[in-house]
Amino acid sequence: MIVTGLTLRRFRNYSEETFDFSPRINVITGDNAQGKTNLLEGLFLLSRGYSHRTHHMADLAMQGEKAPGRFAIEAEVTAHQTRHRLALLMKGGSKEWVVDGHKGRRQRDVHRLMHTILFEPDDLRIVKAGPARRRQFINEEISGYLPGYLPVLKTYKKTLSQRNALLKEVRRSPSAAVLLDGWDAQLVESGTKLVRYRLAYLKRLNETAKPLHDSLSNHKERLSLAYSSNLIDKAADEHAIQACFEAKLKDSRPQDIDRGATGFGPHVDDLSILIDGMEARKFASQGQQRTAAIALKLSQIAIYQKIAGESPIVLLDDILSELDDVRQEKILEILGQTQAFITCTDSRFSDRYPEAMKKIITISHGHQI
Ligand SMILES: Nc1ncnc2c1ncn2[C@@H]1O[C@H](COP(=O)(O)OP(=O)(O)OP(=O)(O)O)[C@@H](O)[C@H]1O
Ligand SMILES: [Mg+2]
Repeated sequence: MIVTGLTLRRFRNYSEETFDFSPRINVITGDNAQGKTNLLEGLFLLSRGYSHRTHHMADLAMQGEKAPGRFAIEAEVTAHQTRHRLALLMKGGSKEWVVDGHKGRRQRDVHRLMHTILFEPDDLRIVKAGPARRRQFINEEISGYLPGYLPVLKTYKKTLSQRNALLKEVRRSPSAAVLLDGWDAQLVESGTKLVRYRLAYLKRLNETAKPLHDSLSNHKERLSLAYSSNLIDKAADEHAIQACFEAKLKDSRPQDIDRGATGFGPHVDDLSILIDGMEARKFASQGQQRTAAIALKLSQIAIYQKIAGESPIVLLDDILSELDDVRQEKILEILGQTQAFITCTDSRFSDRYPEAMKKIITISHGHQI
């Protein structure tokens, strides 16, 4: 899929701006604070339904406007050999999705036709960071291509916070403990589904990330990934996960009541990343950690291609400037025919690409010049 055009209205620092894009490489350049990331954010938001930078939709509307909270993002895309017009209209605090002029569509109708994968400098820290960052990575990537995942995740998180609130209540009045059985059953149901999704995803991730990492490390190192869970220690079927989760919740109930928090479940799981058999987070060098992070992130392109039969749209925000020439070259090679948007303050890196393959868009104060 490719996005051929985009219009941003009252979005961030764009009052109204229309862009035409190259089907290959779009280099978005300009000084700091001109609107380069805002442009990528517009593409990401339209395709995913949320911003990677804020949970508050009101932040996204141009500040100081007469009609606060209103903005529009419109795009022309080609997916499955057909052209479509997609729009997100934000007004009065609610989102409206429009596909080919039909109002009242759902976000997932837009997502089917436009999928973005965003890569930003913080992603280079996936390997080095704590487990919460890696869970966020897993959650974002799975929900990117499996629409069923996010609702399960939301149900799980909601149930977990209700169970935790009840645990605290039980500490004050022990008779409330009878209500815990109901929450435990609900937690086990959505938690088991989450673990199953994640295990299936990890299998795919291993298959794609290993060869990518092999090439990125010049065949010097071996990457392996495993789902690290406090419920199961190897691939298990639904019943086994369910039974284990039930038993752990039951056994740990007294401790959970003491702490007012749930100690077992997918909310504390992690992605274990090994390089040559050693835990990368603890033992790998900064450069090795970055290479592994790039392999994990770039795997998303191939995983999506396999599932959707289409290439996603790749957004690289300030990422190339963080990497040496060899890695920059490899990334651009791996992108292949995929449409990419690359922001940078210095567009010289793209000199080696023929004019026909790229378009350079220079942004200044929310306008292209
Ligand atoms: N809601 C908004 N209304 C108006 N302007 C906004 C809004 N949100 C952000 N901005 C402005 O957008 C600019 C930042 O844009 P952006 O993050 O896209 O910069 P950038 O070109 O990517 O810069 P850098 O190279 O530093 O990453 C800032 O000047 C900020 O004040
Ligand atoms: Mg930026």
